[in-house]
Amino acid sequence: NITPILMAGGSGTRLWPVSRKSFPKQFAALLGDETLFQASARRLSGKGFADPIVMTNSDFRFIVAEQLEQIGIRPSSIVIEPVGRNTAPAILAAAMTVAQQDPRALLLVAPSDHVIPDSADFVATVRLGASAAEAGKIVTFGITPDRAETGYGYLEIAGHRDKVQALARFIEKPNAEKAIEMLVQGNFLWNAGIFLFRADVMIEAFRAHAPEYLEPVQQAVSEAHSDLGFLRLARAPWEPLPDNSVDYAVMEKADNLAVVRFSGRWSDLGGWDAVWQEELSQKPSDSGVVADDNSTAIDCQDVLLRSDSEDLKLVGIGLKDMMVVATGDAVLVADRSRAQDVRQAVTELKKKG
Ligand code: GDD
Ligand code: MG
Repeated sequence: NITPILMAGGSGTRLWPVSRKSFPKQFAALLGDETLFQASARRLSGKGFADPIVMTNSDFRFIVAEQLEQIGIRPSSIVIEPVGRNTAPAILAAAMTVAQQDPRALLLVAPSDHVIPDSADFVATVRLGASAAEAGKIVTFGITPDRAETGYGYLEIAGHRDKVQALARFIEKPNAEKAIEMLVQGNFLWNAGIFLFRADVMIEAFRAHAPEYLEPVQQAVSEAHSDLGFLRLARAPWEPLPDNSVDYAVMEKADNLAVVRFSGRWSDLGGWDAVWQEELSQKPSDSGVVADDNSTAIDCQDVLLRSDSEDLKLVGIGLKDMMVVATGDAVLVADRSRAQDVRQAVTELKKKG
């Protein structure tokens, strides 16, 4: 029995203006009617999985509760991090919370910002990793890379052909040069950001590689209190924690990693170019135009036109390689090659207040 840990505390700034600080991308219906968070929760519901634990922060607690209720999923708990300190302490807190009951429980950390259309294939792949995880490995899931993406982690495969392979190295977010090198070399997979492990094994990995988290997180978990059905971690030990992702804090250093290759479609909707591509793969079009009901494209090529507001009709004429995204109060117009720079726009806007 595997317990899903749904990570829903990130802010998704590259999908501005739909993704906002108070309402980040995982809670928006970027594709279809379901939100990414709902799709992630549903993917891991039933099918022999235990009720999920959601890791999030105070701002999102009601969105999380409401979105789960809408799809009829009852979480075993919604844990509130006092402030966002990234995935390292969040994952350790989840492991420690579960370990109070069952130290050897199997946990599956799942991000909530992914698109994985084939749930059955995905669940079968997760199950392939279970015995390695039971034996003390931290199991990662690898995606065959098709470009030199710098926004992902890379997994260097040591063995050959086995379903579950030993991992030689974990490299988080390489620079462009290094990414090209790894793509060319061919024995690297992308890290899907999904991890399967025993609670006690993860706690030991922190003890070995990021011991600074151990005591404060343990304290935050021991002193947690429930509040209207949410489990609030204690603020005092949590606030001074360093901000770090589990990838840098633990995965790059751990020597007990394994990888299972996932061959189904997978995408981290990291930016508008990824949303555009995902929409096209669902509804192919020769012109490469993706336009929603509020938008009209005339003589356009390779564009995304999207208006999330009924009151804002969008028309593009003669555009090429553009991403245009409007909400009730903001419009983004960006060259397609610059989609990743939307993060900068959010920083600039913050400065203006
Ligand atoms: N609870 C909680 N608290 N969740 C968080 C926090 C936090 O402080 N910060 C981020 N998350 C959530 C995000 O909402 C997302 O679902 C997940 O954790 C991963 O965080 P991202 O910030 O999206 O990570 P990333 O995409 O840059 O990198 C990770 O995922 C890639 C694949 O999508 C890494 O694991 C990479 O190695 C990997 O390739
Ligand atoms: Mg991500």
